Formats: sequence, structure tokens, C-alpha cells
Amino acid sequence: MPNDVSISAHPGWIDVARGEVSREVFVSDEIYRLELARIFERSWVFLGHETELPSAGDYVARMLGSAPVILARDAAGTVRAFLNSCRHRGTKLCRADAGNVRHFVCPYHGWSYELDGRLVTTTFDRHVPEGTDFSGLGLIPVPRVETYKGLVFGSWNADIVALPQYLGDFRWYLDAFFARTPGGMEVLAPPHRWRAKANWKFGALNFIGDSQHVLTTHVGPTTLDPLRAAQAGLFTPGKDSLQLITDEGHGCTLTYLNEGLPQRTYETTHDAALEALYERTLAPGQRNLLRRLRVMVGNVFPNFSFIESTVGDRQRAIIIRFWQPTGGTEMEIVSWVLAEREASAAYKARVLQYGPRMFGTAGVFEQDDLELWASAAAASSNSVAQRLPYGFQTGLRYLDKPVTDYPGPGRAFRPADCEVVQFEFMRHWERVMRSNV
Ligand code: FES
Ligand SMILES: [Fe+2]
Repeated sequence: MPNDVSISAHPGWIDVARGEVSREVFVSDEIYRLELARIFERSWVFLGHETELPSAGDYVARMLGSAPVILARDAAGTVRAFLNSCRHRGTKLCRADAGNVRHFVCPYHGWSYELDGRLVTTTFDRHVPEGTDFSGLGLIPVPRVETYKGLVFGSWNADIVALPQYLGDFRWYLDAFFARTPGGMEVLAPPHRWRAKANWKFGALNFIGDSQHVLTTHVGPTTLDPLRAAQAGLFTPGKDSLQLITDEGHGCTLTYLNEGLPQRTYETTHDAALEALYERTLAPGQRNLLRRLRVMVGNVFPNFSFIESTVGDRQRAIIIRFWQPTGGTEMEIVSWVLAEREASAAYKARVLQYGPRMFGTAGVFEQDDLELWASAAAASSNSVAQRLPYGFQTGLRYLDKPVTDYPGPGRAFRPADCEVVQFEFMRHWERVMRSNV
């Protein structure tokens, strides 16, 4: 794979004793290129949800590392992924974000491919020497594509472990989130997509465990809403809230309800049929996990995040978020809204209305985050600031002290609003960056 610039030129990025991470990790274009080679071309990376491709010929255009890919359902119903580049002169085959085709036809000279990637015709076949073997001229397949509970991941690394092994213990949480009914989740609309001038790891860190920013970054929305302001406890993690991380580098923050406040996630769908399905599908431990939960926000290494949140009595947002790196201080963000497949049309409409209202380009809660991440990039890129590390000191005292009374998988830590899991994410990131497998 390209871009594997030398890692040996870089000494350690993380000072564990001081709880610090080198600032260049969040701004350097060279480290971004190292990440493409050493993380994004070697890991399982999220490509899409299988419900985005209900029919044969459906496709979506996505990124896998630095490469554009087509994720498509072929005539036999198999979900496949290919490099989105013609074998002739390399032109992008699928230029729209999504569509349905019978063949992939190149817009340049018309080479045409089956949905399973085989070359059908060059359109000038009559000039091709007799006996030319077309079978070697098909689209370049992504060597590994696997689905877990509707989530489709791909990897350029043909030798990577199977997806369930990569997800490891964190599957228990993904099951509780993406498979709490027999049908699992459904993407309700095409994703929103936008760009931000910030490093992708700000997104991953924010979702895996940044409870500290909520009261300050989002103070505006809280003061705009008198009801919510009166319930300021909503923005403080309730008793038992915690954060956790697994050996594979996946983690989440579980924020429980503050005593005495009426909001719930799992218990206030106001859809009895759906709640009955939860009871049938979830294991008792997962039901307990969800019962008092107000926000579940997490990240699968490297850049697949998700959040489920409730603020009002009937308002829920279930969001998948993807942080696509495009430079040391640039990324593209993709955001999907989901609901349970078995949910009523009215319920789905409510979720679809509420999700983007809460998070994303028009969300009450996200442009404020993005403005601050971009501001961190802008203020950190100069030669003076780059010499100074970022601080994760509020996680240090908890580093080797996971809680012992938490029954779920992973190493869990309290309080929820320290930086221990963010720091552990960065330590995992460095181990992966320096690994040679
Ligand atoms: S580049 Fe695709 S047919 Fe020429
Ligand atoms: Fe935020």
C-alpha cells in the first residue's frame, strides 16, 4: 500500500507519567499519511449499513482509508466493495453518492462492469487482440468485507482477523445498540455529509469519552431552553455513570439518569410493541444497561462512532457518525439516523425529525463542537504551539484503577467525566501506529 512513510523518524508521542500527548499527532499531515498506511489500510473500517442497499444494483460511494470505494449489492444479493476507479484510465465509476444500476459503466470510454465486478465490455472489444483474458480486468475488490448486525465494514488488509474478533467484547454493547429487536436497525434516510477543519481524532475522542466538554461547549443551548436550564442536572452524569474501553480499543461512555429527573432512553419509546421486542431480544445484563441510561456514546476503533441520546420525554436520536480523515487538520463527517426496523412509521418519522435537530449540520449540539475542534487545529498548527503537548491529566489517577463492581465487558472507569478512556484510546492508537502487523 502507498503512503507508508517511515515511523522510525518519530519518537514516542505519549508521556504516560505526565498524561500528555504530542500536539503534532493532531495537526501533522505527515502523521495523517502514516495513519492512512498504518491504521486505515490495516484495520476494519465502517463502510455503511446493509439497509442502505435493499435491492440488487443499489450502491453507495464511500471512502476506505484514502481510497474511494463502491459498496454495492450484486444480483445474487451479496454486498461487495470495489475500488471506485476504472481499470482503463482510472476514472471514478460511480460519481453520485448513491444510486441503482444494472452495470457500472465508466463515463470516460464506456468500459462496463457487472455488479460483481467482472468486466463485460471495453466498448472497443473489436480492437482487443483475440484471446485477451478479460477476467483479470475486473474492478479491484476490497479484499475483506464483512457485516456485523447490519454494520458493513471493509478492510484493505486481506490477512486481518475476522470482524467479530476485531470487535471483540465490544459486540455486547453493539448488540444492545444495533440489535435490540430481531430485525435490528434501519437507516432512515441518506446520510448527511460535511467537512470540518479539524483532526478526525477529535471526533473519536469526543464520542468515546469527553463528558467534560458538555457543560461548557453546550452551555448556549442549555440557557436557550428554560425547561432544560431548570433541569441542569441533565448535563451532569448521574450516579453510576461510567466510561469503558476494551482490549481492542473500542469504548463508550454510559451516562445514567440523574435521580429525580423524568427522562429515560430505553423506557420511554412510547411504543409498547417495540419495548416488548426489547424485552424478548436483549439479555438481562443488556436490559439493565439500558434501563436507566440517558446517553450512550461510543467509538469503534478507529473512526466509527455512535450516539443514542434523549433529552425530552419523547425525543430520541440514534446516530451513526463516521470521521473520515482528509488531512492533518481536515476531515469529512458522515452522519446517519437510524431506528428499529419494526418501529411504526410515526415513530420513525419522529426519530428522523429529532435526530438531525439534535446533532449534525443543523443540530442544536454539534456545530458548537466543530467550531471548537477547528479552533484547536488553527491555534495548534503554528511552530510555537506544536512544541507543547495536549493534556489528559484528569485521567491519570484512574489509569490503573478500573472499577470492580461493573458486570459488563471492558475495563470500566469512574467518574465518567475524567479523561482516562480518551487517554487509553490514544495509547491504543500509538500501539497500532507502531505495530508492524
Ligand atoms: S477510463 Fe474508464 S473507460 Fe476509459
Ligand atoms: Fe458535544
